[in-house]
Amino acid sequence: MEHDVSDPVRTRHGLITGAGGQLGHALAEVFPEARPLTRVEWDVTFPPPEGLDADLVLHAAAWTNVDGAEDDPQSAAAVNVGGTLHAASLGVPLVTWSTDYVFDGAKRTPYVESDAPSPLGAYGRTKLHAEAAAGDLAWIVRSSWLFGPTSHNFVRTMLRLGAEREEVAVVDDQRGSPTYVGHLAEATKEIMRLPYGVYHVAAGGECTWADFAEAIFEDAGLATRVRRITAAEFGARAPRPAYSVLRSEKSAPELPHWREGLRACLARLDILP
Ligand SMILES: NC(=O)c1ccc[n+]([C@@H]2O[C@H](COP(=O)([O-])OP(=O)(O)OC[C@H]3O[C@@H](n4cnc5c(N)ncnc54)[C@H](OP(=O)(O)O)[C@@H]3O)[C@@H](O)[C@H]2O)c1
Repeated sequence: MEHDVSDPVRTRHGLITGAGGQLGHALAEVFPEARPLTRVEWDVTFPPPEGLDADLVLHAAAWTNVDGAEDDPQSAAAVNVGGTLHAASLGVPLVTWSTDYVFDGAKRTPYVESDAPSPLGAYGRTKLHAEAAAGDLAWIVRSSWLFGPTSHNFVRTMLRLGAEREEVAVVDDQRGSPTYVGHLAEATKEIMRLPYGVYHVAAGGECTWADFAEAIFEDAGLATRVRRITAAEFGARAPRPAYSVLRSEKSAPELPHWREGLRACLARLDILP
């Protein structure tokens, strides 16, 4: 379906759902005119509050606890699928974010938009259903391994563990592209100039979680060692793809390398040595 491409970025009544999350924070910086709504202001498992006026929804609210979704898939679906249906029910253009975890990780070359999804776990399944729930007026942006200066994420966890321990055990048999939310939020403006549809938008480069942890410690000036372990040794409840690098076969914006994103994040946290 066509949309008005004259200037979708200059919206007057944009909304950000999930504004308390890491992407929600970054979106609020990039779209200062949009109204940020936290879960308290709109719990997206319920229909939109009465009288909510919007000409664009930046739908960043989601159940993102991958292991928790295995234990309670219905609650995860209520937020991810039900929440996206409610956001789409406003009947205005919607940007929604999806995940590399819609893929099973069997490939060893980057996943492109036309690759068939086949999620391994409950979280990925709810996100795939959420893509379908987004409707026809939606840009569906699949990204991966998000991190930023706020909220829960791998960078903040490693910085905490690195300050407490001499060695941290980190999974070394899953590869992806850690993506800085500031870069992803910036790219949203460009995505909104493209036709509605699914786009892969993740940082340049790829690494394992162990490589990522080493880079975090190095750039933060911490002497913490990384002990490389397998996902089986780590024993997370949810299965995760062994390989989930995303690239676009469409004209989606390309993001800076993940290492550049890491430095931007550490600079925001004021801890770049
Ligand atoms: N994190 C990743 O690695 C990753 C990777 C690929 C794609 N994504 C996707 O990117 C998007 C943004 O993720 P993120 O990393 O910014 O997640 P996040 O930091 O966990 O933020 C999600 C936000 O959604 C809110 N939320 C949860 N349930 C809600 C509800 N029922 N109603 C309203 N708000 C609710 C949370 O509120 P509370 O703070 O109150 O819980 C939180 O503020 C999501 O669609 C996610 O699936 C994430």
